[in-house]
Amino acid sequence: MCGIVGGVAERSITNILIEGLKRLEYRGYDSAGLALVDHGQILRERRVGKVANLEQAVEESAIVGSLGIAHTRWATHGKPTENNAHPHISGRVAVVHNGIIENYQELKDDLEALGYNFTSQTDTEVVAHLVHEALKSTPDLLKAVEQVVPQLKGAYALGIVDTEYPDELIAVREGSPLVIGVGIGENFISSDQLALLPVTNRFIYLEEGDIARLTRETIEVFVNGQPVERPIKELDATISNATKGEFKHYMLKEIYEQPEAIQQTISQALNGNALRTDFLENAEVDFKNIKQVQIIACGTSYHAGMIGKYWFEQLSGLPCQVEIASEYRYRSPVIVADTLYVCISQSGETADTLAALRDTKKRAAEKGLNISTMTICNVATSSMVRETNHHLLTLAGPEIGVASTKAFTTQLAVLMLLILKIGQVKQAISPEKIEEITTEMWHTPKVILDTLQNDKEILRLSELFVEKQHCLFLGRGTEFPIALEGALKLKEISYIHAEGYAAGELKHGPLALVDNDMPVVILAPKDDMLDKLKSNMEEVQARGGELFVFADENSGIKNKDRQHVVNVPSVSTWLAPIIYSVPVQLLSYHVAVLRGTDVDQPRNLAKSVTVE
Ligand code: AGP
Repeated sequence: MCGIVGGVAERSITNILIEGLKRLEYRGYDSAGLALVDHGQILRERRVGKVANLEQAVEESAIVGSLGIAHTRWATHGKPTENNAHPHISGRVAVVHNGIIENYQELKDDLEALGYNFTSQTDTEVVAHLVHEALKSTPDLLKAVEQVVPQLKGAYALGIVDTEYPDELIAVREGSPLVIGVGIGENFISSDQLALLPVTNRFIYLEEGDIARLTRETIEVFVNGQPVERPIKELDATISNATKGEFKHYMLKEIYEQPEAIQQTISQALNGNALRTDFLENAEVDFKNIKQVQIIACGTSYHAGMIGKYWFEQLSGLPCQVEIASEYRYRSPVIVADTLYVCISQSGETADTLAALRDTKKRAAEKGLNISTMTICNVATSSMVRETNHHLLTLAGPEIGVASTKAFTTQLAVLMLLILKIGQVKQAISPEKIEEITTEMWHTPKVILDTLQNDKEILRLSELFVEKQHCLFLGRGTEFPIALEGALKLKEISYIHAEGYAAGELKHGPLALVDNDMPVVILAPKDDMLDKLKSNMEEVQARGGELFVFADENSGIKNKDRQHVVNVPSVSTWLAPIIYSVPVQLLSYHVAVLRGTDVDQPRNLAKSVTVE
């Protein structure tokens, strides 16, 4: 999704802006641009495609400047063209923008009536003209921006410069993330702190409604025109560990990081085979009273939530609903007192999940209902973490590949820890059961390592998918969400159409798709449903389908004609979804590499979906 970088310094910041944009590439974009203020002029370059194209253009034009803003654009209003790329300029003013200005058409009509010409199809350009217009009557850039902001409807973050204010950078946060990077004699802004790690590890996280004025030496933050204090936070050095290392892609690196990520994640909650006494201590009172759980999430995080539902109900006996945030937020769900609302999100910034959380809190407050909110998240500083009563972090480290891998498996680990904690507080899970599951959780990193040993075999099988157009993934119980996740992984990075189904649904429709050109991936742990799953496999084979089975080593499922079996280490039912995620991730990865797609930044997708 769109990315913002900006800065004000004594030195030229051209290379800092380009490097920052490169670090935002993982978020997904289709064009890039920057504007520098130099000797009373705005110098701008914009290019469609990769940041490398912009970098080359900037090298050729040799533009420099110590005040500037830069942007990677993910098209929402208007196609990915050079004219639509940011920054947008209105005379002396240049603007970069993330998010959406919902009332832009109305504002555009008014501005056109005032004589402004629009050179793009974007919603952003109205902001540049509005600031330009406001500066006619308000000879102060900050005041002009403060005058414009109330006119804008939607969720957005802005970076604004003006040639008349060559030492000032204005930043606005209203529904879209923005951080200030605090330097020495220089200051920066970005929509993602990762972009600024080469220049600082000290950050101010702007809050909704904040407008900031940065100069080289000062940072002022205002709310409704009044100055406010925002703390500076120093970032943990481990978060900067965001390089590909020896791996060809971030996705592969992140798949291989899962043993360590799970180890880190469970270590925060376990002391030997018991839950640590301080684990979620503050939440105990809320947990005692909750009567049900509502999980809200999108994409892969939603699949984690689906598994959470199985676990919540089987282990703790608490009713649990799980819903896609984009549906939940618009269907006027009934808010029930004593519900624990759990948002699951790698980024903690996904627009639909965040909006669903905010609506739920607002409606509960209006009705005077007592609810608790919790975020399961990979980014400690994210909006969702800040806006929920409790949070649990997946300690997976930065996930750069658009396809979520280690964030997913650590979400599952965290969900299990949460369920054990709630079960313990409510005395719904016996100490013996907790010990049994936590013992297995400690084994998970080793079992993932063993599962990764199948990588070469999975690579060999992936060659059989390269020419395929469609694929089915089947599983039962907690492997049903893994089937959905496997299909999502395959389609998002290899562009092969894939569907995940509960294997029991096969006869109710999808069996009609099966022929000798249809690969069917089966997830077959050794559980109570194994015999039923074997019958489903027979149904596929009888119609000529080719089976690719990730099967428990003791399942008795063997290689045969048109049935390829990869043995997965034997694990308990509770851990099976974490373990079976690994082969489907590897399969999708290898198919995508063989098909030559952009694995880490697949077309049309963004890492963090901060607009609807
Ligand atoms: C999965 O591979 C995707 N990148 C996507 O479905 C993602 O999980 C979804 O956009 C939700 O993101 P979040 O976890 O950051 O909220």
